[in-house]
Amino acid sequence: MMVYSANESRYDGMKYRRCGRSGVKLPEISLGLWQNFGGVDTIANGEAIVLRAFDRGITHFDLANNYGPPPGSAESFFGLVMERHLKPYRDELIVSSKAGYGMWSGPYGDWGSRKYLVSSCDQSLARMKLDYVDIFYHHRPDPETPLEETMGALDYIVRSGRALYAGISNYGPEDTRKAAAILRSLGTPCLIHQARYSMLARGPEEGLLDVLGDEGIGGIWFSPLAQGLLTSRYLDGTVPEGSRASRNAFLKSDRLTPEMLSKLNALNVIAAARGETLSRMAIKWLLRDARSASVLLGASSVAQLDENLLALEGEPLSGDELDSIELILRMPE
Ligand SMILES: NC(=O)c1ccc[n+]([C@@H]2O[C@H](COP(=O)([O-])OP(=O)(O)OC[C@H]3O[C@@H](n4cnc5c(N)ncnc54)[C@H](OP(=O)(O)O)[C@@H]3O)[C@@H](O)[C@H]2O)c1
Repeated sequence: MMVYSANESRYDGMKYRRCGRSGVKLPEISLGLWQNFGGVDTIANGEAIVLRAFDRGITHFDLANNYGPPPGSAESFFGLVMERHLKPYRDELIVSSKAGYGMWSGPYGDWGSRKYLVSSCDQSLARMKLDYVDIFYHHRPDPETPLEETMGALDYIVRSGRALYAGISNYGPEDTRKAAAILRSLGTPCLIHQARYSMLARGPEEGLLDVLGDEGIGGIWFSPLAQGLLTSRYLDGTVPEGSRASRNAFLKSDRLTPEMLSKLNALNVIAAARGETLSRMAIKWLLRDARSASVLLGASSVAQLDENLLALEGEPLSGDELDSIELILRMPE
């Protein structure tokens, strides 16, 4: 096995943003291991993507207990990469995990109880071969468990040394405000909120961004490329073999309506006029907002990652370009 030695100029090309009102800076682009790093995927490809990311200054890797498939296997994969290659660089990494979706059978393997969160965190640490994670998230709100219990569990996970910071994901604006108040009162402020946000999914603009700004919580955006729609992958209306839309239910090919394709191609015209690809422009669009701490990309190849990292180069989008994009985004899908 080749001994990995990180690229010495890895910090030269990346920009880092402060995450809310905290001491932590995150890379403008982070890498998520939801898909392509599971037990069904090729280890060598996943390893190449993770190491390439770190070599390009991506210090933040996002996981969850259920990533795979099968559930748990993305964390086991990451544990392998840690053991083989990244252990010497542990202090240069921000690794996150989460619990909140169904993970094991019985009443204690889902949602938001203290019982579930603490035991799931222990399982994640064992799979990833880590002493602690940097961020531990509650993955989705639980309508039945008192928020005090769930936030109390996050506080405990931090105080017991299992995690350095607490985060929440998929919480609406009001629940975010309440969760932030509870965490603050416990002395473990909410570092970060992970939400779906892209040119095709603008939910956070309906209140969440304002709450994050008020509370000093950083926003990290998942599915920033709408799982590949905001790239060159589907622009001609066909579904390439091996693409996410060809492989699984999370991105259904019936989203490729004629209306959607006109929209994507109109956006691509603006990107092309800037000499950029659509994915590059989609990432820049998210980075336009100061409440964005990081854009959390997925990738199935090193080439995709490299293409997307070009988003860090060149000019930001101008006011006129943002206006033209806005008109296109209002077109029906
Ligand atoms: N908190 C939550 O509830 C939640 C939910 C979902 C995701 N997440 C997090 O967010 C991360 C990213 O989510 P995501 O994977 O949906 O993000 P995404 O960046 O919107 O989609 C990534 C996918 O788009 C395609 N792609 C990316 N760059 C491309 C390029 N340059 N050209 C062509 N295709 C390209 C690839 O799919 P193919 O090559 O396979 O077609 C890639 O796997 C996850 O890994 C996870 O960490 C969190």
